[in-house]
Amino acid sequence: MSNVELAPSVMRFYGETVNEDSRLRSSADGRMELIRTQELLRRFLPDPPARVLDVGGGTGIHAEWLVRDGYEVKLVDPVPRHVEAASDVCPAVVGDARALSEASDSFDVVQLLGPLYHLPDLADRQRALAEAVRVVRPGGLVAAAAINRYASLFEHVTYAHLHVDRIHESVSKILETAVYDGVRGFTLSYFHRAEELAAELVESGLLDVQVFGIEGPAWSLVKAAEQQPGTGPTDDLIASAMDAARMAEPYPELLAASSHFLAVGRTPSA
Ligand SMILES: C[S@@+](CC[C@H](N)C(=O)[O-])C[C@H]1O[C@@H](n2cnc3c(N)ncnc32)[C@H](O)[C@@H]1O
Repeated sequence: MSNVELAPSVMRFYGETVNEDSRLRSSADGRMELIRTQELLRRFLPDPPARVLDVGGGTGIHAEWLVRDGYEVKLVDPVPRHVEAASDVCPAVVGDARALSEASDSFDVVQLLGPLYHLPDLADRQRALAEAVRVVRPGGLVAAAAINRYASLFEHVTYAHLHVDRIHESVSKILETAVYDGVRGFTLSYFHRAEELAAELVESGLLDVQVFGIEGPAWSLVKAAEQQPGTGPTDDLIASAMDAARMAEPYPELLAASSHFLAVGRTPSA
């Protein structure tokens, strides 16, 4: 990795605290995120075989289905234990989104499904997007995920503790500043508004930029059913919430209720 340094709390969180491999498999809203990310990306990916660079790819959860779909995937992540796990899925190297070692114009697709929400400084996010644009071929696809500025407001209602002073203050701070300091619970993070994410992709030179709500406006109902005592979310509740995510796509006002966003754009053709 060259002249960039990962925030120590991000390295600690992914290197020691959390098991990233189970994040999208062990909860209902995680599974919604995985399925919707898959279906949205498949809408924009070129036909396989094409070269996909998965930056911030974690343990390879998306690389896995992309390889199964016939793509030639390489994964980059700053956390050595992620890279070690992902190496079972595809070629994987330690690296940072802000200073990629891959050659210019060398991939058909670059996806950043994680780095942007761990880079609170705009200049760092701009570097990460500039690197994606450099590495993707002319006319190629860049896809970037972000966490919604308002996600924690919904999330802490599902835990039924938003009204507790300490949580109330912490969420208020995120709403005001868009940054979580990573002191406890989650790690150093940045929370986007949908229009801000679109503007960052446009500024990086990408064309045809679109932003989607990944889980859509009803994910927190599913999460609440999972968190609160009882039998958990029924398959019908999950199916309805997934339907809501798809039905909400034409209505940008509803983006504000999703947990994550997926933005896509294309580099100009040569
Ligand atoms: C929540 S995980 C997402 C993993 C996977 N892409 C997914 O969508 O499930 C965030 C990932 O971003 C990685 N990450 C954080 N900062 C990064 C940076 N500056 N450059 C590249 N990856 C970064 C973390 O190591 C972690 O693997």
